[in-house]
Amino acid sequence: MFRYLPFFVSLAAATNLYATHYDGNIYSLSLDGGNSLSITSSLKTCGDGPSWLTFDSPTRTLYCSDHAGDAIVNGSLSSYAVDQNGRLTEIAQAVDVGAAVHSIMYTDKDGAKYLAVAHYGGSAMSTFKLPLNSDDEALQVFRYQLSEPGIRPEQDAAHPHQVILDPTGAFILVPDLGADQVRVYAIDMRHSGRLNACPSLNFPAGSGPRHGLFWKSKPSHFREASVTMLYTVSELGGRFNAFAVTYPSSGCLAFKETQSFVPYPGGQLPADATPSELRMAGTSSLYASIRFDQGFPPNDSLATLVHSPNGTVTFGEITSSYGTIPRTFAINKNGTLVAIGNQASSNVAIVMRDPQSGNLGSLLANLQVGEPGQASNSSTGLSSIIWEE
Ligand SMILES: *[C@@H]1O[C@H](CO)[C@@H](O)[C@H](O)[C@H]1NC(C)=O
Ligand SMILES: *[C@@H]1O[C@H](CO)[C@@H](O)[C@H](O)[C@H]1NC(C)=O
Ligand SMILES: *[C@@H]1O[C@H](CO)[C@@H](O)[C@H](O)[C@H]1NC(C)=O
Ligand SMILES: *[C@@H]1O[C@H](CO)[C@@H](O)[C@H](O)[C@H]1NC(C)=O
Ligand SMILES: *[C@@H]1O[C@H](CO)[C@@H](O)[C@H](O)[C@H]1NC(C)=O
Repeated sequence: MFRYLPFFVSLAAATNLYATHYDGNIYSLSLDGGNSLSITSSLKTCGDGPSWLTFDSPTRTLYCSDHAGDAIVNGSLSSYAVDQNGRLTEIAQAVDVGAAVHSIMYTDKDGAKYLAVAHYGGSAMSTFKLPLNSDDEALQVFRYQLSEPGIRPEQDAAHPHQVILDPTGAFILVPDLGADQVRVYAIDMRHSGRLNACPSLNFPAGSGPRHGLFWKSKPSHFREASVTMLYTVSELGGRFNAFAVTYPSSGCLAFKETQSFVPYPGGQLPADATPSELRMAGTSSLYASIRFDQGFPPNDSLATLVHSPNGTVTFGEITSSYGTIPRTFAINKNGTLVAIGNQASSNVAIVMRDPQSGNLGSLLANLQVGEPGQASNSSTGLSSIIWEE
């Protein structure tokens, strides 16, 4: 048996990552020996504009959403088998609403899996039962129309930007940049996976909520009940918001805003700068990527926010994103590394993170992936990055 040992050691030493690029490729990357990042393969696939990846680890299946299309012209949803070397083999491609930008998986009480997809330009959210087959139609499609345009030019239509699962696994939230609200759905957990609309969480006009996440405290002897918070970043208003979340007997969610501030030094963003991705690791910090701020010329920034045990958040510091327009970033499971996907410079930067303090450290590895995008055209460049974990 011992002769197999080096094989397992080498597997453990390399970590796979996957990036989508609006050039029409999914790139498989490998981080070897801690600091050597390289492209191991690429696949031209996922329609014209691969925009987001969700990895189902138990089945080693990757789902890719396509940014092509709009509310009228369809796009696609694709699935891939992923081998140990990160090589992808397409399993299925189904028709979906166009202009997808984000997806998540959810399950019903029997453990059946579903995927929910946000369509920014498609002004919709769609859901699919998994595993995906090529002739599948969406389980449900929710199309959104504004009664009147919002106050910002970007708010010409409803623009769902993300899908979020709550910590109980029973609710789905959809930040809608165009509608100034986070839409809320209760999942029918009895083996249907269908969603029922709940009242939305409304934001002030012109906020443009983009991304968010939940945090739930562990019950302790100090505090009888646990606390659930929703944290969001708004692209147009540039604010970070915190909401205390409760679960009333109505079967929907109730929100109470506890904080609203600009996550930037001096409480003010440079002109044109916008918060983009929001992530949390451990319990002590959150991170928001800041596009177009040129905080570390020629690079943009990541803002670190300090999270206290009672759920209160304060601004910490900004650090370099090591590229321009950090559209997305992902933190590895053990909280030691952050992979930043910079859209316009089209590079993946791996930055060290101290899991105890939450502080971001130096640049460990950096790799150009595909051609750089144009800062003025959001349909170019690198669109997403994930760790295979
Ligand atoms: C988009 O896809 C749906 C579902 O497959 C289909 O009913 C519809 O006709 C398609 N729309 C267009 C414009 O092709
Ligand atoms: C939460 O904790 C922070 C930091 O310890 C403290 O400043 C703040 O007053 C606390 N807030 C509440 C509502 O207890
Ligand atoms: C900007 O990022 C590049 C990597 O893309 C890095 O080499 C350079 O040192 C960074 N500069 C600053 C000021 O952050
Ligand atoms: C975190 O994961 C990396 C890469 O797999 C590994 O090198 C490191 O030892 C891990 N650190 C901790 C604290 O588990
Ligand atoms: C943005 O880039 C896409 C993809 O290359 C291209 O099809 C589109 O025409 C560009 N839009 C503008 C306004 O240049």
